[in-house]
Amino acid sequence: MGRLKGKKGAHLLWKKEKQLRRTSFDLVENEKRYRDLYENAPIAYFSMDFHGNVTKCNNNSLKLTGYSKEDLIGRPARELYVDTGAGIITPQDVRQMLEQGRPVRDVEMRFRNKNGQEVWVSISLDAVRDKDGKILEFRAMAIDISERKALEKQLVQAQKMEAIGTLAKGIAHDFNNILTPIAGYTEMLLMETDATGTQKKEHLQIIHDCALYAKGLINQILTFSRQRENEFKLLQPHTFVRDALALARSFVPATITIREKINENCSLLMVDPIQAHQVVMNLISNAYHAMEETGGVLDVVLDEIVIRDENEVYPLKPGTYSYLKFSDTGHGIPLSVQGKIFDPFFTTKKEGKGSGIGLSVVHGIIRSHNGHITVKSKEGEGACFEIYLPAYTGDIRPEDQKKEETRFVKGNERILLVDDDQKVAFMEQYMLEKLGYHVTCHQKSPEALLEFRQSPEAFDLVITDLTMPNLTGDQLAEKITEIRPGIPIILCTGYGEQINKEKYQLKGIKGFLHKPVAIKAASHLIREILDNR
Ligand SMILES: Nc1ncnc2c1ncn2[C@@H]1O[C@H](COP(=O)(O)OP(=O)(O)O)[C@@H](O)[C@H]1O
Ligand SMILES: [Mg+2]
Repeated sequence: MGRLKGKKGAHLLWKKEKQLRRTSFDLVENEKRYRDLYENAPIAYFSMDFHGNVTKCNNNSLKLTGYSKEDLIGRPARELYVDTGAGIITPQDVRQMLEQGRPVRDVEMRFRNKNGQEVWVSISLDAVRDKDGKILEFRAMAIDISERKALEKQLVQAQKMEAIGTLAKGIAHDFNNILTPIAGYTEMLLMETDATGTQKKEHLQIIHDCALYAKGLINQILTFSRQRENEFKLLQPHTFVRDALALARSFVPATITIREKINENCSLLMVDPIQAHQVVMNLISNAYHAMEETGGVLDVVLDEIVIRDENEVYPLKPGTYSYLKFSDTGHGIPLSVQGKIFDPFFTTKKEGKGSGIGLSVVHGIIRSHNGHITVKSKEGEGACFEIYLPAYTGDIRPEDQKKEETRFVKGNERILLVDDDQKVAFMEQYMLEKLGYHVTCHQKSPEALLEFRQSPEAFDLVITDLTMPNLTGDQLAEKITEIRPGIPIILCTGYGEQINKEKYQLKGIKGFLHKPVAIKAASHLIREILDNR
C-alpha cells in the first residue's frame, strides 16, 4: 500500500481512528448490555468447570442460594443439592446425561440455601465443548418453583381430605347404627334405675357418656372433612369445659392429676356445643399422651378477660373474651415442630396412636368461632395452650333457645317404624313402646309401604330411617304422602347424611331425629308433631 501523504493522509488516519474508537465503544456498550441481561435476568444462570465447581453466576443465582458471589464461586455446585431419596434425578445422573451429549431440561430438584432452607428448583443444563468435543464447561439455568410445589402439596392435602370425607360419611352411618342401640338402651336403663348414687347407675352413666363421646369422635372426623355444618348455640363456657373434664377423668389414669380453676360467671358464648367439647377433649387427650409415661399434672383454667389494646393479643380486637388455658408437665414440643402442630396430618406419635388431625380440628374450630389459639412450650418442660373465644354481644337471650328436656312425654298413638338395621329397629321399637305407643316395625321399606297401602288409616305417625336399600326414607315418605297426604313423618338421619330440609318438607316430613336417637328429645318431638296434626 502506498504511503498517504499530506492533509489527505492525516484526514484518513483520523477517520480510521474514529471508526476504531466507535467500534470499541460499541463493543463495550454491547458487552454492558449483555452483562446487564445476564446479571439481572429473572432466572439463575451459572456456569461450572469440568469438575462441577461454580465459575460464573448471575445475581439471581445469589438470590436463589443466599450466597455472596465470593461464597458461590469456586463452590462445588453439588453441595447445593438436597438428596430427597428415591425417584429424584441426582447430580451424578445429570453429569452422566451431559457427558453422553444429552441436554438436561426442566429437572426438578431441591437446593439448600445458605440459611439451611430448602428451595425447589427446576433446572436445565448444557455442556459447552471445544471443536474436538472436549467439555469446556457446563452452563445451567434454574428457576425457583417452591411456590408451585407448595400449591401442589396443598392440592394433595385437599384430595386426602376429600377421600377422608367420603370414608367418614360411610363410617359415620354404620357407627351411628351401632351407637343408637348402645346409647338408647342405656338411656332407658338409666331412667328405670331410680337409686341415685349407686354404682350401677354410675356405670350406666359412664357407658352412656362413652357412647356420646364416640358420637363426638364421628363428628370430629366429619368436621375435619367439612361434612358437617356448624350448629351454634348460646352457652356458658363452664358447661362444656366441665362436661369434657368429667369425661376425660374416666379415661385418664391416676398418675395424671387434672386440676381445674373454673370461673362459672363467664359471659355467654355463641358456640357449636359439639365442637366446643371437641376442642377441650383434644387438648386434654394430647396432654394425657404427653404425660402418659411419666405422669404429671394438667392445669385447666377458664376465666374471662378483657382485651383493651389492639396489640395485646394479636390479632384479637379489643373486647371481652373467655380465656381457656391447658398447661401440662409432659414432654413438651421442640421448637422445630411448633410451627407444624396445627397442620392436618402432622403427628409425632406412633402409627395407631396419633392421626395428626386433633389440633388441626381445634384450630379450624377456634377460627370458625372468631377466636384465637396459641402454644408455648419448651422441649422437656411441658406445653401450654391458650384459647380466646369472644363473648356473645348480640341480643338473643338464652331463654329464647329450645330448652334441653329433662323429662320424657308419653302417648298411645299408632306408629309405623321403619329401619333396615335390626338392632336399631328393635331398640327404637322398645323405646317407643316404653313411651306407650303402639308400634308396627319393618326392616324392609317396600314391605312397610305395602302395609301402609293396605291400611293407610291404621297409623298416626311414620318414623323412618333415611339410608335404606331398595327404597330410601325420603322415597318412602313421598309414596306415603301420595297415599295419604298430611300423615306426619319423622326422618331419622345419621350425622354424615346431608339433608335438604326444605326439599324433604315437601314430601310430608315434619321432623328429624339424629342418630343415636336420644329418648327424651325423641319423646318431645313425637308429641309436638302429633299434637299439631
Ligand atoms: N400437650 C402436648 N405436649 C406435647 N406435644 C404435643 C402436645 N399437644 C400436641 N403435641 C404435638 O402435636 C402433634 C399434633 O397433635 P394432634 O394434631 O392432636 O395430632 P395427634 O395427637 O394425633 O398426634 C402431636 O403429635 C404432638 O407431637
Ligand atoms: Mg391429638
